[in-house]
Formats: sequence, structure tokens, C-alpha cells
Amino acid sequence: MIHSMASAFTHQLTSVALLLLLLYFPPISESNNLFCDAGSEYGGPQCGIQSSSKILIKGGTVVNAHHQQIADVYVEDGIVVAVQPNINVGDDVKVLDATGKFVMPGGIDPHTHLAMEFMGSETIDDFFSGQAAALAGGTTMHIDFVIPINGSLTAGFEAYEKKAKNSCMDYGFHMAITKWDEVVSDEMEVMVKEKGINSFKFFMAYKGSFMINDELLIEGFKRCKSLGALAMVHAENGDAVFEGQKRMIELGITGPEGHALSRPPLLEGEATTRAIRLAEFVNTPLYVVHVMSMDAMEEIAKARKAGQRVIGEPVVSGLVLDDSWLWHSDFVTAAKYVMSPPIRASGHNKALQAALATGILQLVGTDHCAFNSTQKAFGIDDFRKIPNGVNGIEERMHLVWDTMVESGQISVTDYVRLTSTEWGRLK
Ligand SMILES: *[C@@H]1O[C@H](CO)[C@@H](O)[C@H](O)[C@H]1NC(C)=O
Ligand SMILES: *[C@@H]1O[C@H](CO)[C@@H](O)[C@H](O)[C@H]1NC(C)=O
Repeated sequence: MIHSMASAFTHQLTSVALLLLLLYFPPISESNNLFCDAGSEYGGPQCGIQSSSKILIKGGTVVNAHHQQIADVYVEDGIVVAVQPNINVGDDVKVLDATGKFVMPGGIDPHTHLAMEFMGSETIDDFFSGQAAALAGGTTMHIDFVIPINGSLTAGFEAYEKKAKNSCMDYGFHMAITKWDEVVSDEMEVMVKEKGINSFKFFMAYKGSFMINDELLIEGFKRCKSLGALAMVHAENGDAVFEGQKRMIELGITGPEGHALSRPPLLEGEATTRAIRLAEFVNTPLYVVHVMSMDAMEEIAKARKAGQRVIGEPVVSGLVLDDSWLWHSDFVTAAKYVMSPPIRASGHNKALQAALATGILQLVGTDHCAFNSTQKAFGIDDFRKIPNGVNGIEERMHLVWDTMVESGQISVTDYVRLTSTEWGRLK
């Protein structure tokens, strides 16, 4: 199994990770065998593609991030050997007719949380069930966030190596930084040089737990710069969110709608611009995860226009949903939509779509972080205790297709870029 980001990505490029619209083939790689073994509990080892195989995908429209053409794709033992029109092959090759279909790279979800421990329980999708869902939806690789244990990056990494043992597809790791001191700073170097992790997320929210102040954020950015790693931020003003939550509770608003009301878009905009300016001050690139509001998006647009290296990642829930669900009278329904930053009022979603179509935002993630209704009910009397997180790892590919391609906002090649190849280009 592949652990390091760099090698995992090379693997992705060379393995067959092709998505045919309406016709899906799982990726061929060593992980395919694991999928077969692991999946046997779901009704027998139905592995259509053997590990030593020759396949010709014939007559489809082959799409990559910059180009599309009608061509055949010849695949040997999991490696794409040739892409060109009218490839002739012998009888030992399995031919799949893709006439009238698109043949695309599998999706890469750059933002997931599988088997993440939280509030004494764990997200309900582990690496196997989350990846099975991903594969069902056409995503063949994801990047998860290693969460340190008590601030220790090494302990966190070891825990995630274990969690990922039941994987059935390619994955990579970012790492969250949940506190800051010299030990963490030293461990970051180990992660970059020995473990292949070179993207680190800092939290400007979650006061009292993960949040770090500006002084430490600057230290973190400097460290990323010196290691050549990519700094990522969860951009919300944690002090102001804390104040907003207090206000809601004082007003007697304890339901899921209080979640959205307590942390409005301007707090996301404020933290986004602060992170952008501090990254400019340190002179290091910045990746803003889960851009949920116009406010944050406009700060990214401004910085990019000025030539700064800022990357903005919307997530599929922010692109297609609005906050009306948080006002649903049924707690179980409303609580499903609780994530941070919150899903915003109608209008933000359309603006984020437009920003994605015009290149202001670069790639689509999910922040897949699924809790079941028992777990969500921890917050039945107090929205602050509802585990934050929504699903999306399975739905991302088709929702982006429907919302962005079917609506005419982006081309099919753009679709490949922002659901798949852009992450590789960034690295
Ligand atoms: C984290 O640290 C606290 C206090 O130092 C300790 O009590 C606790 O057991 C630690 N937790 C883990 C998972 O190591
Ligand atoms: C949610 O998951 C927990 C932990 O696995 C489990 O105890 C509980 O029964 C589940 N609830 C539902 C509604 O599936």
C-alpha cells in the first residue's frame, strides 16, 4: 500500500484510473486485490479485472485536463500504455466498447476525514467504507488529514497508518497542526523528509482546542516555507465564533440554525484575508480549504489578481446546497447539514460556482466527515455539541458534473482538471 504523497501520486498517474461515464472500472493496481479481498464479505470476490491483464477501451472520447479526442486506450497490467485512435490488438486483449462515452481519469478528492476520532467516537466511514463509496462515485484517490495525538505528529501518523490498513484504493495524507511548539516544528521536518507529507493545515477556528493565534500561525507559515511544504488554513475567526456562540445561547437559540447564525460569512472573510496577508508577509503559498462564502472567495480573487499564490478549494456541499436545511423543524434532518464553516444562505453557492468556472477557485473537495444520527444527537440541546461534518466523497463527481458541466458553466476538460488533475499540478 502506498503511504507517501509523492509516490501515491505517481501511482495514480500510472495506474488505470479511468472513469467512463455510466460505465465504471475500478483502478487496477495492487490495491485492486485488496479491494477484492476486503470486498468479499459483500458477496464474493467479484473482481472483473485480473492483476495481470490487457485491456483496450475502444472508441470513447478520451478527456484530460487540456484536451479531448476520440481514441482508444490500451492498458497493460494497470498501466496506460497507449492513447491513440484505432489501436489494433490481439485476441488475448479484452476489448471494452466505449463508443459514445467519455473516458476520464478517476477523481481525486483533496479533502476527506475517514476514521477521524471526535468527541469520544469516530466518523462512521472508515478507510474501507469511505473508499468503497468513493469508488462507487468515480473517485479513485483521496487525501485525508492525519490528526496529531495530543499535538504529536509522529503518534498521529502512526495511528493513521493503522487506520488506513483496510484501504481499497490510493490515498495520500495532509497533516493537521493542532498546537504549536518546538517539538511540532521539528516533527514537521520528519513528516516532510521521511513520511512524504508536505501539506499542513492550521486552524484559525476552534478556540480552546485546535486554534492557534497569529503569532503561531506566522511561525507555522515560516516553517512550511523553509521546508517547501504547502500551508493550508481553516479560515474562520475563532474568537469571534466563540462570541457568536455565546450570543446565540444567551438568546435561547440552541438548535442547528444557531450554528449558522453564530459564525456568519464575515468571520470567514476576515480570517481568509488575514491568512492571505500573513502568507504574503511570510512570502509562502497558501491553500484555503473549504471556501464556503462569497466573502472568503472575494478575498482570494483579490489576492490572485495581485499575483499572490493563493489556492481556493470549495467543497461540493458549499457549491450545491444552501442553509435552509439548518432551519428544518426535525433536528435529525437539520443536524445533517452542520459543518464548519457553515453551509451559507442561497446565493453564496452560485457565486462559488461562478468563481470555480472563472478560475478564481481551483479544485473541488468534499471535507467528507460523516457522523450518524446517534452521533449528531450529542448536540440535541446545544448546537455547539453537534459533531461538525457532512458527506460527499461518493457524490462529488456527479454533483459537480450536474452543477457545472450540465449547466454549461464549464467544459468537460475543465471538469477533469478541477475534480482530478489540479491537485497533482499543485504538488
Ligand atoms: C494527552 O495528554 C494528557 C495530558 O498530558 C494525558 O492525560 C492523555 O492521556 C494524553 N492522551 C493521549 C491519547 O495520549
Ligand atoms: C451510530 O454509530 C454508533 C457508533 O458506531 C453506533 O453505536 C450507533 O448505533 C449508530 N447509530 C445509528 C443510528 O446507526
